[in-house]
Amino acid sequence: MRLAGKAAIVTGAAGNIGLATARLFVKEGAKVLLVDRDEASLAAAMQELGSGQAEALAADVTKPADIERYAARAVERFGGIDIFFNNAGIEGPIAPIEDYPDDGFERVMAVNATGVFLGVKHVLPKMREWGSMIITSSIMGLRGGVRGIGYSASKHAVIGIMRAAAKHAGPRHIRVNTIHPGFVESAMFRRIVEENVKLGIDVPDEFYLKQVPFGTFVTPHEIAQTVLFLASDESRQVTGQTIAIDGGYLL
Ligand SMILES: NC(=O)c1ccc[n+]([C@@H]2O[C@H](COP(=O)([O-])OP(=O)(O)OC[C@H]3O[C@@H](n4cnc5c(N)ncnc54)[C@H](O)[C@@H]3O)[C@@H](O)[C@H]2O)c1
Repeated sequence: MRLAGKAAIVTGAAGNIGLATARLFVKEGAKVLLVDRDEASLAAAMQELGSGQAEALAADVTKPADIERYAARAVERFGGIDIFFNNAGIEGPIAPIEDYPDDGFERVMAVNATGVFLGVKHVLPKMREWGSMIITSSIMGLRGGVRGIGYSASKHAVIGIMRAAAKHAGPRHIRVNTIHPGFVESAMFRRIVEENVKLGIDVPDEFYLKQVPFGTFVTPHEIAQTVLFLASDESRQVTGQTIAIDGGYLL
């Protein structure tokens, strides 16, 4: 029970990585507030996790009032917040830079960057000492994604947010780190592959895996295991770090 007695919020909790993490957090003894804008998938997640340690709350991470509502609810139900997995995100448009839609750029920045900032702004002050915030960036937060410039920009932006927040929260012994998942076998990755096919880039999985020294996809559970390490007391002195979970893609 690596998270016994801890209270956590997971955003994007109805998605592949969020749900795998919420599942692991519950198994390790945490109480978890699952936040997502997809109510149907949240309900399905609750069916699986049960209401003993978990609760779901539908919210949009781009709306400050929604964030205040879920942060207040976590304090009310659990008595405080120790872990914040600031994870909700969208892939946004997949298009060459010349054709990349202006409103699509704004949309992806609104969810992936502003949404993360708003989470930091409203949740961090409510977190207990020795807490941990984990922000989901991407390998595309550490290098350029040519057909996802908005996504790449947003995932770089959260590194700046993380560093500022880590410095600010240091005196309260709250650590803040970003994780950078690689090619995760997930609905999001499949959507990106489909969008590439529409652009005439129809390549087999091997094309992606050739860029990965390990030669395999990462699973959502493998992402969750690293998040668990960062959430647990085992990483007490780890803050301000960018941690890739990518089978060596960035090498
Ligand atoms: N899947 C991958 O290959 C991959 C790789 C690198 C990084 N990531 C990042 O991991 C995170 C989780 O992705 P995933 O693979 O689980 O994708 P997913 O699409 O399965 O899950 C994302 C979840 O976020 C929710 N969400 C989106 N916008 C929201 C909003 N405004 N308010 C509240 N909830 C919102 C969605 O409803 C969804 O349930 C994202 O930040 C994503 O960018 C994913």
